[in-house]
Amino acid sequence: MMRQEWFDEARFGMFVHFGAYSGAARHEWVQNYERLTAEEYRPYVDHFDPDLFDARALARRAKATGMGYVVLTTKHHDGFCLWDSALTEVTSVAVCGRDLVREYVDALREEGLRVGLYHSLIDWSHPDFTVDWNHPRRGDEIERERNAGRDMARYREYLHGQVRELLTGYGEIDYLFFDFTYPEHRDGWDGKGPGDWAAEELLALCRELQPGMLVNDRLGIPADFVTPEQYQPTSPIVKDGVPQVWEACQTINGSWGYHRDNHDRKSAEMLVRMLADSVSMDGNMLLNVGPDGRGAIAPRDEAVLAEIGEWMRLHRDAVVGAGHTAHVPPREGVYTRRGDRLYLHLFSWPLGFVHLPGLGGEATYARLLHDGSWLRTSVTDPGQQADYLTPAGEAEGTLTVHLPVQRPDVLVPVIEITLASS
Ligand code: GLC
Repeated sequence: MMRQEWFDEARFGMFVHFGAYSGAARHEWVQNYERLTAEEYRPYVDHFDPDLFDARALARRAKATGMGYVVLTTKHHDGFCLWDSALTEVTSVAVCGRDLVREYVDALREEGLRVGLYHSLIDWSHPDFTVDWNHPRRGDEIERERNAGRDMARYREYLHGQVRELLTGYGEIDYLFFDFTYPEHRDGWDGKGPGDWAAEELLALCRELQPGMLVNDRLGIPADFVTPEQYQPTSPIVKDGVPQVWEACQTINGSWGYHRDNHDRKSAEMLVRMLADSVSMDGNMLLNVGPDGRGAIAPRDEAVLAEIGEWMRLHRDAVVGAGHTAHVPPREGVYTRRGDRLYLHLFSWPLGFVHLPGLGGEATYARLLHDGSWLRTSVTDPGQQADYLTPAGEAEGTLTVHLPVQRPDVLVPVIEITLASS
């Protein structure tokens, strides 16, 4: 099996950002945004108390939402580790006696979900990690001098050592999301490029320890898939003529970590449209959830996921195992395709008819997917006259699907069209 086969098939995954910043409850970049010193950030680490973090509930929620995999932050940029690392004191095990990565991988496997890990290349807590333009301490001139005493080679050793721990201690890992590389020089500070991570060696380590595992592109060198963040591409992604495996990672409210007072929320309908849109361009969607300071999924997120899950229960076939088609969709929506089925995801509901150019000779049956109800179809013939009951003016061979006036009460209605096997 090709490394990415399960991934292409799944199409929909859950990102989980959880860490000391969840208790700060004002974005996972809080340390950076507020330029906090290690001492100022420390209370969030010391008070990390995930008493409501329930990996099984999380895994069940992902599954019930129609997701095939989950990706958990093992360590974010603040350096706080959710597993039992022997290489640092800054871990959940030291603070609360729990290896959350262990609980998480066990729960995922129990639910039959693929196991993904996120691991930050950046580490603002490590004494050898040099201050750069992305660092919380970038405003402090004394850090320029102190950088001379920091040794990135030692940090690299730490980074590789921790990746080794994660890839040897937790059984088979299906997916690894490294984050991230910023080689540009800015505001008089250096960035960090692939050389700072010894990216080639790190990727080789991944290949050696987990040969079947997918690795993302944020080591700054090409690997298995590319990662548009918080935007939707407008066509399948192709690089130098080669189609790319891609996954757009998306948030519910713009923040990855729990952000209590941020109400800039996407609706379930918008998120389903984004999912359908991604699949129509041969991509995946990784939808983020930031558990709160106690590790629980916030009720508002739970509600959105439940709505999406209800849509997925009825429309799974239009997403899982589906992908791009060369058919050009009508203005009302996007197509996805799975084998001999074409799915029209209707982002707007037209009056009475939807016209599908070129499908007249190919379609053998049409129905609404959510309730399996048959839809009348007709094909425009040449010379057909318009009258007050028959739409005309469509190109020859256009398939016209006749629709009920009432838009079905689902987030995004989908028409399933069976294609003649040619
Ligand atoms: C980033 C951010 C971040 C988030 C991530 C998800 O580049 O630094 O906080 O974890 O992307 O893709």
